[in-house]
Formats: sequence, C-alpha cells, structure tokens
Amino acid sequence: EEYFSTEQDYQGKHVLLTAGPTHEPIDPVRFIGNHSTGKMGIALANEFARRGAEVTLILGPSSLRPREEVKVLPVMTAEEMLRVAEDNIGEADIAIFAAAVADYRPLHSSDEKLKREEKGDLQLELVRNPDIAATLGSWKRPNQYFVGFALESNAGFEEAKRKMAQKNLNAIVLNSLLDKGAGFSYETNKVTLFDREGGIEAYELKSKEAVARDIVDFIARRIAL
Ligand code: CTP
Ligand code: CA
Repeated sequence: EEYFSTEQDYQGKHVLLTAGPTHEPIDPVRFIGNHSTGKMGIALANEFARRGAEVTLILGPSSLRPREEVKVLPVMTAEEMLRVAEDNIGEADIAIFAAAVADYRPLHSSDEKLKREEKGDLQLELVRNPDIAATLGSWKRPNQYFVGFALESNAGFEEAKRKMAQKNLNAIVLNSLLDKGAGFSYETNKVTLFDREGGIEAYELKSKEAVARDIVDFIARRIAL
C-alpha cells in the first residue's frame, strides 16, 4: 500500500505553499497564535520537490524546515504572509494553502512590553485578518490549480465544500478533528479530499508524509501531468 513514486512528474511546475501558524503580536513578547507545527505543509513541500517541482514555501513561525531544494520565505503575521503570497503567486502553477492563519489579530500592538502592575485587567480588541486563500483565489487564472485545507471540529463535509467554493479553490483537504490521531500535534493525519467536479477521496489514518503523497497524487491526476 505504501506506494512510493520516484517519478519526476512535477518537473517544470512551480508550486507555492503557505504553512505553519501565524503569530499576531500583542507586545514584543506576546502574541495570539495556534498549535500548528507546519508539519503537513512541510511534508507537502518536500513531496513536490522530490517529484521535480520548483517549490516556494511561505512559512509562519515553525521550528521545522523542509529539504534544502525548497525555497523558504519566513513570515510572522497573516498580513506578512498575504504580502509575500501576493508577490509570488504570479508564477505559480499550483498553490497550496496549508497555513493555520490566525483569524484575528490585536487591533493595537504595543512597542513596549505591557506591565501588569500598570494594566490591571486587560481587554484586547481583535480585528479580522485578511483571508489569504480567498484573496488569491479571487485572482486565480484558469491554468492555475489551488488547494486549501479545512480543519473542522465536526464531520465537516458541507463546510469544506462551502470553503472550497467561497475561496475559489479547485480542491480542498478536509481534516476532521473527530478522527483520533489527526491534527496539529500528531505525527499522523486522516483526510478526505474534495474537488469542484464532485470528486471525493477518503483516506486512512497515516503519516503526514504518506498523506502528502496522496494529496500530490490527487493533484497530479487532475492536472493531467
Ligand atoms: N486561510 C487563509 N487565510 C485566512 C484563513 C484561512 O488563507 N485568514 C486558508 C487556510 O490556509 C485554509 C483555508 O483557508 O486553506 C481554510 O481555513 P479555515 O481556518 O479552515 O477556514 P476559515 O475560512 O478561516 O473559517 P473558520 O476558521 O471560521 O472555520
Ligand atoms: Ca480559520
């Protein structure tokens, strides 16, 4: 079952990925973020590179790094991630939005560390971050193939399909937190893939590297490499 392609089937293709969390500063030492490690996105970047693609990875704060052929563009916040993605989307044949972007950021961030003696209780005002996938999706050319992720705390089929349409993606990877052993802090993942043509493929629980191979195979079949 562990089929391992040695093909260079992505040679000549440019792949852009977002991965990891974003950190939205409150002050120089504090931020709003989430538990993403970047592991799934990095596994995808590695798999595309192994199969001959030219890969650019826009990576939020993560201690992990991909194989050296992958070009890494490190970012901290959602706004930075959007800016770097906009600058690099033009030449991409394929874009994968695997980042766990913080949906909100503090309206104000302090240049100096907040002191609790001075502040007492603290109220943070949060504003919505830009939607990177939806922004780039709205400019997608017909010859570009975009894939997003949907992380849902329930079964999530309808929600994943709604996000795929709303962000103008060609396909979406549903990651249901109902499945034990899947998600942020695990080495494994269990996903279901949907595309705009109504295709559905459900996979077993497996390593994130094996999930990356399934996703890259799924895309290869659809863009007819
Ligand atoms: N995404 C993005 N920019 C954001 C939020 C999400 O690019 N500001 C992308 C993610 O990388 C993922 C997809 O959109 O590919 C879905 O992310 P998700 O958090 O599941 O959906 P949201 O649209 O943020 O909706 P919600 O979190 O409210 O369910
Ligand atoms: Ca979100």
